[in-house]
Amino acid sequence: MASLLLSCSSTPTTTTTPTFVTAPPGFLTHNAKRTRQFNLSCKARNGNDEQRESPGKEETFQGKFDRRNLLVGMGGLYGAANLVSADYSPAFASPISAPDLSKCTRGTNLNTQQPLDVNCCPPLSQKSIDYKLPPVTKMRFRPAAHLASQEYIAKYEKAVELMKALPEDDPRSFMQQANVHCAYCNLTYEQTGDPSLRLQIHNCWHFFPWHRWYLFFYERILGKLIDDPTFGLPFWNWDNPPGMVMPNMFVKKDSPLYNPRRNQDHLPPATTDLNYAGKPTTDPSKIIPNNLTEMYSEMVRNVSTLEDFYGAKYVTGTKPDPGPGTVERGSHTALHVWVGQATPSGEDMGNFYSAGREPLFFSHHANVDRLWSIWRGLRGSKPKDFPESDWLNANFLFYDENAQLVRVKVGDTLENQKMGYVWQEVDLPWLKNRPTARVKKSKVATTSTAPKATETVFPVKLDKVVKVLVDRPKKSRSKKDKEKEEELLVIDGIEVDTAKFVRFEVYINDEDDKADEIIDKAEYAGCYSQVPHKNSTKVTSKIRLGLTELLEDLDVEDDDKILVSLVPRAGGEDITIGGIKIIYAS
Ligand code: C2O
Repeated sequence: MASLLLSCSSTPTTTTTPTFVTAPPGFLTHNAKRTRQFNLSCKARNGNDEQRESPGKEETFQGKFDRRNLLVGMGGLYGAANLVSADYSPAFASPISAPDLSKCTRGTNLNTQQPLDVNCCPPLSQKSIDYKLPPVTKMRFRPAAHLASQEYIAKYEKAVELMKALPEDDPRSFMQQANVHCAYCNLTYEQTGDPSLRLQIHNCWHFFPWHRWYLFFYERILGKLIDDPTFGLPFWNWDNPPGMVMPNMFVKKDSPLYNPRRNQDHLPPATTDLNYAGKPTTDPSKIIPNNLTEMYSEMVRNVSTLEDFYGAKYVTGTKPDPGPGTVERGSHTALHVWVGQATPSGEDMGNFYSAGREPLFFSHHANVDRLWSIWRGLRGSKPKDFPESDWLNANFLFYDENAQLVRVKVGDTLENQKMGYVWQEVDLPWLKNRPTARVKKSKVATTSTAPKATETVFPVKLDKVVKVLVDRPKKSRSKKDKEKEEELLVIDGIEVDTAKFVRFEVYINDEDDKADEIIDKAEYAGCYSQVPHKNSTKVTSKIRLGLTELLEDLDVEDDDKILVSLVPRAGGEDITIGGIKIIYAS
């Protein structure tokens, strides 16, 4: 199995017949057409065949403190080399721990900063038990929503209907399940171990694992309600052109999957916009290439280090929102806002407290979850997970399908198959979508009159396009150097003080001054955006964008500086940038 993983390449050139997971009868439509030109020469491409070692897995919840003390005493494991982003977190903190449900408060509406007008605290329960993944006897199958059969849709509708019919105080009911998202995202819980801070599982390295657990139980509850242990959630395949439209099963008005609180301009046939900036959705012939470039950037170009994909370190004592990973801040956020109503508060999808009330949420996140496994499959022999117990032993509480309160940990989420589910195989067209440079060997960095990126420029407000020249501490790096260390553009001190959705994009050596919204070019380095969001303290975040491949594509590896353009797309007057520099990291 391991050798299969090694044969994965991010720019495959061979085409082979993919290995399909056998679908139970009725899951797939008979006329589902697939084009195969982008198939990967790798079984693991959809994350369905992963194997991994899980360092640190043997540690128990109870054992972690003793062991930590021992390690601290030895000055060992937690030395600087093991810290993923030392600038964010106390060096000797402990993993985020399950909150005390009895201390849940009404939380904060992140848009208005007022106390929430809903109570999203879960029902209380006696004691939680430490969750053990059940042995996998039957695999759950998650179909692509746009390919799902009528039979499957009827089953899913039935399950959601039954969930909506459960008594309101049943932790498995539809509203209680929606509240789980609100409770973990709207600052209703104290951070265990640091009551001065609130718990927030977004914009940090727990984004993927926490949502995986959330979907896991949601799916098991639905499966139990229809007595189908193979039931899997449909995923919204928005990274693939045939899936770049709101799936039909969610837009039939009489379906339990329907939700009226959506942007009515974005119903089918509108093309989903993975770079959505609040402007009317336009021409699919532009949006689709932009979408594929965005996916390439999130999944290939900008994720050479673990932190860049997962998000920044978040442990006891870290303030909320230390920094989101590429998918979270990119396509994930874009579609939340794209689906939600075009109002400032964006219910349901465009606002964390209400997002879980939108049935589409679970298909949106089933795709995010799938992208996580695909990314792990693409890593080959590179590390796929943080080895630190601060990540692996972080734990949360959920109600399972039997309404039992369970404590789950991040270290158990690393392999979807061990959690008992796989996805339908579909194409990954973005994988081959390495964008091309508009201008190679551009001299724009030498001729530009833009200021140097120094303290005199920053902090700067993004109410207009901002251009700065950034020095490269190393140039003309050897292949070996480049393999060892990624060149990263760090944009930090990003202050977002807004009740609004914000987004900006970053371009390198771009001679195009019109900022004409063409993302499909090698000059595009990445973006920052987030679901409308406001905390009681100002949010300061940072992003890191991979430059190694980009500078190769622009053919400017021998230059000693680059021209960086920061292009605000939404809410620019509410974004401040603290500084820009280039670093090298592995
Ligand atoms: Cu918890 Cu997509 O948000």
